[in-house]
Amino acid sequence: MRSAVLVTLAATYSSAVGLPETYHLDRRDDLAHSPPVYPSPWMSPNAIGWEEAYQKAKDFVSQLHLDEKVNLTTGVGWQGEQCVGQVGSIPRLGFRSLCMQDSPLGVRFGDYSSAFPSGQTVAASFDRDLFYRRGQAIGAEHKGKGVTVVLGPVAGPIGRTPEGGRNWEGFSPDPWLSGIGIAETTKGIQDAGVIACAKHYIANEQEHFRQVGESVGRGFNISGTLSSNIDDKTMHELYLWPFVDVVKAGVGSIMCSYNQVNNSYACQNSKLLNGLLKSELGFQGFVMSDWQAQHSGVASAVAGLDMTMPGDTEFNTGLSYWGTNLTLAVINGTVPEYRIDDMAMRIMAAFFKVGLELDQPEINFDSWTLDTYGPIHYAANEGFQQINWHVDVQNGHGALIREVAAKSTVLLKNEGALPLKKPKFLAVVGEDAGPSALGPNGCADRGCDEGTLAMGWGSGTANFPYLIAPIDALNFQAADDGTRIEAVLNNSATSQITDLVSQADATALVFVNADSGEGYIEYDGNAGDRKNLTLWGNGDEIIKNVSSLCNNTIVIIHSVGPTLLTDWYDSPNVTAIIWAGLPGQESGRSIVDVLYGKVNPAARTPFTWGAKREDYGTDVLYEPNNGDGAPQQDFTEGVFIDYRHFDKKNITPIYEFGFGLSYTTFEYSDLAVEKKYPTAYNPTAGETAEAPTFGAGFSTDLNDYLFPSDSFRYIWQYIYPYVNTSSSAAEASQDPHYGQTADEFLPSKAIDAAAQPLHPAGPTLDGESGGNNGLWDELYTVTAQITNTGDVAGDEVVQLYVSLGGSDDPPVVLRGFDRIHIEPGQSVQFNTTLVRRDLSNWDTASQNWVITDHPKTVYVGPSSRKLPLSASLS
Ligand SMILES: *[C@@H]1O[C@H](CO)[C@@H](O)[C@H](O)[C@H]1NC(C)=O
Ligand SMILES: *[C@@H]1O[C@H](CO)[C@@H](O)[C@H](O)[C@H]1NC(C)=O
Ligand SMILES: *[C@@H]1O[C@H](CO)[C@@H](O)[C@H](O)[C@H]1NC(C)=O
Ligand SMILES: *[C@@H]1O[C@H](CO)[C@@H](O)[C@H](O)[C@H]1NC(C)=O
Ligand SMILES: *[C@@H]1O[C@H](CO)[C@@H](O)[C@H](O)[C@H]1NC(C)=O
Ligand SMILES: *[C@@H]1O[C@H](CO)[C@@H](O)[C@H](O)[C@H]1NC(C)=O
Ligand SMILES: *[C@@H]1O[C@H](CO)[C@@H](O)[C@H](O)[C@H]1NC(C)=O
Ligand SMILES: *[C@@H]1O[C@H](CO)[C@@H](O)[C@H](O)[C@H]1NC(C)=O
Ligand SMILES: *[C@@H]1O[C@H](CO)[C@@H](O)[C@H](O)[C@H]1NC(C)=O
Ligand SMILES: *[C@@H]1O[C@H](CO)[C@@H](O)[C@H](O)[C@H]1NC(C)=O
Repeated sequence: MRSAVLVTLAATYSSAVGLPETYHLDRRDDLAHSPPVYPSPWMSPNAIGWEEAYQKAKDFVSQLHLDEKVNLTTGVGWQGEQCVGQVGSIPRLGFRSLCMQDSPLGVRFGDYSSAFPSGQTVAASFDRDLFYRRGQAIGAEHKGKGVTVVLGPVAGPIGRTPEGGRNWEGFSPDPWLSGIGIAETTKGIQDAGVIACAKHYIANEQEHFRQVGESVGRGFNISGTLSSNIDDKTMHELYLWPFVDVVKAGVGSIMCSYNQVNNSYACQNSKLLNGLLKSELGFQGFVMSDWQAQHSGVASAVAGLDMTMPGDTEFNTGLSYWGTNLTLAVINGTVPEYRIDDMAMRIMAAFFKVGLELDQPEINFDSWTLDTYGPIHYAANEGFQQINWHVDVQNGHGALIREVAAKSTVLLKNEGALPLKKPKFLAVVGEDAGPSALGPNGCADRGCDEGTLAMGWGSGTANFPYLIAPIDALNFQAADDGTRIEAVLNNSATSQITDLVSQADATALVFVNADSGEGYIEYDGNAGDRKNLTLWGNGDEIIKNVSSLCNNTIVIIHSVGPTLLTDWYDSPNVTAIIWAGLPGQESGRSIVDVLYGKVNPAARTPFTWGAKREDYGTDVLYEPNNGDGAPQQDFTEGVFIDYRHFDKKNITPIYEFGFGLSYTTFEYSDLAVEKKYPTAYNPTAGETAEAPTFGAGFSTDLNDYLFPSDSFRYIWQYIYPYVNTSSSAAEASQDPHYGQTADEFLPSKAIDAAAQPLHPAGPTLDGESGGNNGLWDELYTVTAQITNTGDVAGDEVVQLYVSLGGSDDPPVVLRGFDRIHIEPGQSVQFNTTLVRRDLSNWDTASQNWVITDHPKTVYVGPSSRKLPLSASLS
């Protein structure tokens, strides 16, 4: 039970920041808390897939001095070097610094690089091969620019609320689909020879209140970032699920998020980092903070953080929780030597695992300017030299982008209007069909909605090398076909639109959109998160107007998630509806491919389209609810988000999760389930070795950590591992509380180096990361026949759902899919397996996965609500 104390803000404050006069804040005094989990697990160098990488890491790290290890862990400060984040270098060994670069859909700030479809868009393809190839191409472009770590892919947010500003960067609110999406993308990125960074760990489900400064800047006086309060079962069965898949896929790094979980910052939450990630999942790579998400030095180190980004306490303070402070903390013993060694080992193991070599190619681009010459240290405005080589890394990826976008386009409604066959007259309507007058990159970080929408906004963006707007591709197609085509690309030009679509024989193509992005940009009253679920720029009014005048109105939506189609979707004059997501640079050609049937649509909506905003049962917290403390978001809905909520509450959506049409038809038959008999599930037992250290130890003499020499060129605001005085550690640290011992302020066992028990739900020391390997034992094989009963070839996305049978389980959960190509008249077998994990629930008492006694049923069909085949699992 929580008691609430009402605090009423002074009227002067409310009016000063434009809040309603009646604005009240509840101050909660009984907040969720996170249990301590210590010590921080050290690496398991024999974990499957990491053995060779750890051998190489050991050879390297064993040669390092303490300040060099610290350099590996600490960023040099915001805009200190060319990439959005860089750690220090190790000049003695000729090792250049590691370069971390956004984004999950291309090289942010790059030139001559590609703009791929968003993660959410490709999720709609339900195509593992496309997930992988898109990831590999993105990885290759980063590689070509000299990047070490690609800051993506994303499974946090997973999409708890449809309004969440960054949902489009990730995949889907379904954890199983998200898990496949993030894992396959990561394999692709890392096979290209760069480290992937799965983010944002975890429960980073909204933009509002993710950072204190951002919120204060908008008039919200909060003292801590949003706390996502999540129970253990929901954590395992929903939010952690895709991170399990990506850890199992061998991801090299994970980014901890801005938000708190149970009132402990994600980057110093020992339950999240030491407990779930490094112990239970056996993650062998490194944890990097989101930019400014670190809030403590020693505490974050012992809680499991391995790298701080961008290194300074806040942008451009010139001070750091680590750097000098980490050197001192190791010397004075509050951070054990094994912990700094573990950080360095994890970072270097990830580095070697993806095939990187010590002699890395140079970074050939700059994030802060496209000028060829400029300051290499942008913040300090120093080191004028060539900083951009304008290297073309596209390598023909436009063709892949077009393929991904077309194969990810969802046909939601089609009353025979599509595919188009040399239509007589196309009336194209909407700003979203055309280019932006400002140019495709006209708004910084895409922070506006001008012209066609092919990307959301924020750090998850890339520069367009070109952007083919729908009207461009439509014009060429029309010219080839002898189709008359006219477009009105101004949403306010009502009379021109009306005149155009009222003409005889018009086929109207109405392009509309809805945008969102990252919280540091507010556009049209949308502070990252969407403020509503309607279409932007009076899109709904335009559709209603056009469809009242034209009996063949085709609607194409570019959006960051669902919009409310309620007012017009069932009009008989709306003859087709398409969701084209955020398609990237080949928007126009990919939509023409689908509209004209060159690609037979097969994609499925990766989220639910509800009739009303309230139908989703979850929403963004837009106003603080804990006085001037950290806003509290209780995830009381548990695992019931998106379709799980609609199904449980029996709410009929307009289009359900997994729904999508084709230009052909399919029939499902012959479901067969075969039981397999693996060995019983064994909770993992045993313990780790004692914490290892590497190399020759370290000096405790501060004189050994002074800046190297008087001639050393100190860069303004730059973060170093050095001390600027050897007279006193307290003076060197500038920490007003310097001198506290581990006993005084750290939880017990925080610096324990003794052997530790392995987690029962975790892998063995030489097992595969991701959790107890028995969770992947195959329990059933499921097959079904799928027949193409139409006239054209097409892909079918076959989906398998399971009912776990408990009263607190969702009616069905996705547990398998395949995208299968089938010729007309042909039948193809759908084959999949169910592993132990697929049929398990998280048991909070035993802290392990269990298969409950509840009767379980398997379903196969074309969407979450069309499941013609079913069988019980004995
Ligand atoms: C958050 O608190 C809930 C309720 O006590 C608990 O079940 C869960 O394990 C906690 N999670 C974290 C990460 O602290
Ligand atoms: C740490 O990194 C900085 C920046 O790259 C470099 O100037 C310095 O020499 C490095 N220090 C050590 C001890 O390698
Ligand atoms: C903001 O909150 C702080 C405490 O966190 C308080 O000291 C300060 O008075 C508050 N400011 C306003 C304008 O309410
Ligand atoms: C060390 O960390 C403290 C905060 O814990 C900070 O105030 C101080 O400025 C840091 N020192 C340096 C040299 O960055
Ligand atoms: C050790 O160093 C850290 C980092 O500067 C500091 O926070 C801590 O108070 C110091 N502890 C002792 C016992 O000197
Ligand atoms: C769009 O149409 C409106 C209404 O006719 C007009 O006021 C406005 O100037 C037009 N915008 C542009 C960019 O042409
Ligand atoms: C919803 O927000 C968008 C973007 O800010 C805006 O264009 C639209 O008018 C809003 N819808 C309603 C019904 O207010
Ligand atoms: C459909 O379009 C026709 C014009 O072709 C119009 O007369 C009719 O009213 C429209 N119907 C609806 C339901 O809007
Ligand atoms: C639209 O109306 C025209 C003229 O009344 C008619 O010929 C045509 O078949 C209708 N089209 C559709 C898609 O209903
Ligand atoms: C499914 O498995 C069966 C037997 O294992 C095989 O004959 C069939 O080709 C498989 N079908 C597909 C689509 O892989």
